[in-house]
Amino acid sequence: MEIGKISASVAFIFVFLVSSMASTMAEVYFSSLPWTLIVSASPKPGQVLKAGVDKITVTWGLNQSQPAGSDSAYKKVKVWLCYAPASQADRSWRKTVDDLKKDKTCQFAIADQPYTGAAAGNTSFVYAVRRDVPSATYFVRAYVVDSAGDEVAYGQTTDAKKTANLFDVAGFSGLHASIDIAAACFSAFSVLSLAFFFVTENRKAKK
Ligand SMILES: *[C@@H]1O[C@H](CO)[C@@H](O)[C@H](O)[C@H]1NC(C)=O
Ligand SMILES: *[C@@H]1O[C@H](CO)[C@@H](O)[C@H](O)[C@H]1NC(C)=O
Repeated sequence: MEIGKISASVAFIFVFLVSSMASTMAEVYFSSLPWTLIVSASPKPGQVLKAGVDKITVTWGLNQSQPAGSDSAYKKVKVWLCYAPASQADRSWRKTVDDLKKDKTCQFAIADQPYTGAAAGNTSFVYAVRRDVPSATYFVRAYVVDSAGDEVAYGQTTDAKKTANLFDVAGFSGLHASIDIAAACFSAFSVLSLAFFFVTENRKAKK
């Protein structure tokens, strides 16, 4: 009886805690966010970048036609590499969901920087495409978050339908790596044989 009562009250407290935690984590819907940042990235439309090799320069700043003070809640800018629709088809693990807690569009963090304010102008960041970024078509999106860490605005390098200004990443593959190793072996071999040739020629010359 007693144990039953205790576990019931523990369960009650647990449910209470979980539900109060859930209520402080506001749900944010992408469709409710204003597009206030202008974001640009260095890849040209259709360019193919090599994972583990190439870099992307991302630049962002407040759209100057925003009313003064509209960015007063802005604290940080979080920039992401995001899947374009063509690379999401039939892949539920990359699906776009309006509820940002469930959205899988943007999976690769590029930068997490303080928001510097409209007067400071644009901010740039150079990102080296990580080896674990898979072959796919991408765009870049930046979310502005407030002091609670909730998204309050965004900007992206593509249009609203995510069809313009897309670029590709060629994933880092084992083949990639073994070709590099083979190339390194060949060049080491050629340096060695050249050295061997000089040494033997020198010996011949001295005789
Ligand atoms: C800046 O905002 C204005 C007004 O909302 C919009 O018409 C314009 O297209 C935006 N500029 C860019 C480059 O996104
Ligand atoms: C910031 O970037 C935008 C869009 O690329 C550009 O129009 C604007 O002149 C830049 N602002 C500064 C201060 O460089």
